[in-house]
Amino acid sequence: MDRTRVLGTTGYVPDGVLSMKEIANGVRRRRRVGDIPPVYPNGWFGLIESHKLAIRQTVPISILGLNLALFRDEKGNAHALNAYCPHLGAHLAVGGRVLGNCIECPFHGWRFRGDDGKCVYIPYADKIPDVAQVKSWPIQDVNGWIYLWYHAEGLEPTWVIPEIEDIVKGNWTYKGRTEHHVNAHIEEIPLNGADVIHLNQVHGPGLVAGVDLRHMYARFWEFIKHIWTATWEPYPPPDGHLASITLKHCLNLCGVPFKMLNLDVFARQIGPAIVYLEFRSIFGKGIYIQSVIPTEPMVQKVVHNIYVSKSVPTLFAKFLLLAEAIQFERDIMIWNNKQYQHKPVFVKSKEDSLMMRHRRWFSQFYSENSPRMTFQKESLDW
Ligand code: FES
Ligand SMILES: [Fe+2]
Repeated sequence: MDRTRVLGTTGYVPDGVLSMKEIANGVRRRRRVGDIPPVYPNGWFGLIESHKLAIRQTVPISILGLNLALFRDEKGNAHALNAYCPHLGAHLAVGGRVLGNCIECPFHGWRFRGDDGKCVYIPYADKIPDVAQVKSWPIQDVNGWIYLWYHAEGLEPTWVIPEIEDIVKGNWTYKGRTEHHVNAHIEEIPLNGADVIHLNQVHGPGLVAGVDLRHMYARFWEFIKHIWTATWEPYPPPDGHLASITLKHCLNLCGVPFKMLNLDVFARQIGPAIVYLEFRSIFGKGIYIQSVIPTEPMVQKVVHNIYVSKSVPTLFAKFLLLAEAIQFERDIMIWNNKQYQHKPVFVKSKEDSLMMRHRRWFSQFYSENSPRMTFQKESLDW
């Protein structure tokens, strides 16, 4: 399964006159962004699913305001280098070849080593200048993803991504992915994990009620209801970059519980941009892997992959992935149109204070030099 929704295809209110793309661009231009925190937090970020980078393959990637040349060397190790050749500025991953553990620039053939980005060969010169080097970024190739470490102060990784044993050992099998492009500040997406009230508001109406918030409360669908209970809790140090979410899902049909779709979820937020949601269903266990990939200050590409144990029928795994996508598309309609609320009006309640705690928890991923959105481009069309 591979369901992709790019910007302008979901999460906006159509008016019957303009195309969805025109509406999306209009909302994007007119929207008050709000007093947003820095746009690129520090931590590990998904670059690409591991199987999409074959040996000797190169991929140009834009993420976190960086332009990168990603490649897999002949031994199978992935490398991410700054994309532009120091010679005359060609993009290394647009036509560059992989040779051994190097990438060769397509323009004049200089070769750069993946491990440290040093130029090790210039076809027409014996002496290689010291400054002939590009930055090589820390990479982790684990759980089916290639992750990149980003830190605005240039720190080396201060934590690593835990391996999911059942994926690495092949006990769980891959059943598909979804990809959504969301027009919002990155922090809005993980905040959902600590927002327990929205669960029954936004995700309560049955899946058949669809993804359009305007229609999903229609009387007609009232016989079917998802019921959620949830907790959110940050880990104590030294694992303060993690937070745990427990979620319980039940389905009610005309007020009667339908046990087939009971789902117990134990999720970990791993830094600012990765969530691993392990679940137990009536058929067996599995995991959703969520990767939030900031491609622009206010645009996130969000990929969900699903892996399940052998006892889970493929059709059921695909249903779970589709169900998740439908629920996520409801969130997108909120995110695409909202502003970032710098000073939310909260009421005295454990629910709102949980969101406050999430704000505090997330602020650890910003540092002094974290990039801020300083200007608005004349046109934000895409
Ligand atoms: S631009 Fe890369 S070798 Fe000349
Ligand atoms: Fe949500």
